Amino acid sequence: MKASALFRATFGVAPRAAASAPGRVNLIGEHTDYNGGPVLPVALGVRTTVVAGPAEAGVLEVVSTRDAQLTRLDPRDHRAAGWAAYVAGVWHELAAAGGRGERLAGARVAVAGDVPVGAGLASSAALTVATAKALALLARAPLTPRQIAGVAFRAEHDHVGVRCGIMDQTIAALAKPSHALLIECATAEARQIPFRGRLLLVDTGVRHELAAGALNRRRSECEAAVARLRLELPELKWLAAWPVAWLARLKRALPEPLRARAVHVVGETARTRFGAQLLARGRLKQFGRLLYESHESCRRLYECSAAELDLVVAAAKRAGALGARLTGAGWGGAVLVLVERKREARITAGIRGAFARAYGREPPITVVRAAGGVRRESVR
Ligand code: GLA
Repeated sequence: MKASALFRATFGVAPRAAASAPGRVNLIGEHTDYNGGPVLPVALGVRTTVVAGPAEAGVLEVVSTRDAQLTRLDPRDHRAAGWAAYVAGVWHELAAAGGRGERLAGARVAVAGDVPVGAGLASSAALTVATAKALALLARAPLTPRQIAGVAFRAEHDHVGVRCGIMDQTIAALAKPSHALLIECATAEARQIPFRGRLLLVDTGVRHELAAGALNRRRSECEAAVARLRLELPELKWLAAWPVAWLARLKRALPEPLRARAVHVVGETARTRFGAQLLARGRLKQFGRLLYESHESCRRLYECSAAELDLVVAAAKRAGALGARLTGAGWGGAVLVLVERKREARITAGIRGAFARAYGREPPITVVRAAGGVRRESVR
């Protein structure tokens, strides 16, 4: 295992605990999680593996196959820089979770990640979820998958400062092979739904930097919209809870761009719940139409798309895909494409050709198989 080999090469001893967690694609329900709405992700086959061993008290040492550079942190010092901040955040949250930290005097951590970074596939949640599991194993203080998701979410949200919702950590912790997970984010209620569709993932290669800005800005806009809508509905807690039948009233109450953002969130919430019903009944054609609608809404109303993403969606549609949309935060990253097997070759060729004509290169296209969530790994 790459992470174990790196650990041995760096620290000269064997690790004591190991865990891995997957990236994800979100089928539908974009920018709804931090608005208290539903999401419908599946876990990917690509995973991040974290191995860990003890270190002297008060020392956290982290190394990754991405740069092989050793970072030494004082875990009491709140803010670490770069990707090591995610590991330090998990450390803090474990320490806060019922004295577990006392048993974790110091730790060494090595990371090997196969989830592409910045591609909208939740590489950071794969890292935090796998780290939480590995450190909990090291401390001999087991956590349930839900507790792992909670620790990982707070690490990213409270420590790193990305104002994400709970989707990515929840799917990385709870995923079941061959299933999508409907998560109602206001209550964290989760329901497994069998997923039988054929799904392609097209990586545009356009990368975004989340913590830096766009997601946090959108979240502030949504909060501003809720504050104004409370004049109409005093007990409104979440934007996604606004009744879809009252869209006209919402539009009257909000100025742009809050109006466009809110219409996206309320519409996407309805689409996602309906989509989960369609998926459960195997109605893939109708489900696919919702994917196109969701992309349009992300593009026009939430303004989180990019020219490369729009081009892939349009090419997929022309070539006869059942549905296609950007997945994850947007502003770059990947497009998911729902296909019938008999049309797959034509659709793949159509997307490759259109992309190459516009940008002079072919995007990587992979088949998605809905995989399982966090798990213990052997330390060898
Ligand atoms: C990022 C966040 C998620 C979610 C998506 C948009 O991936 O980490 O919590 O908000 O964006 O749906």
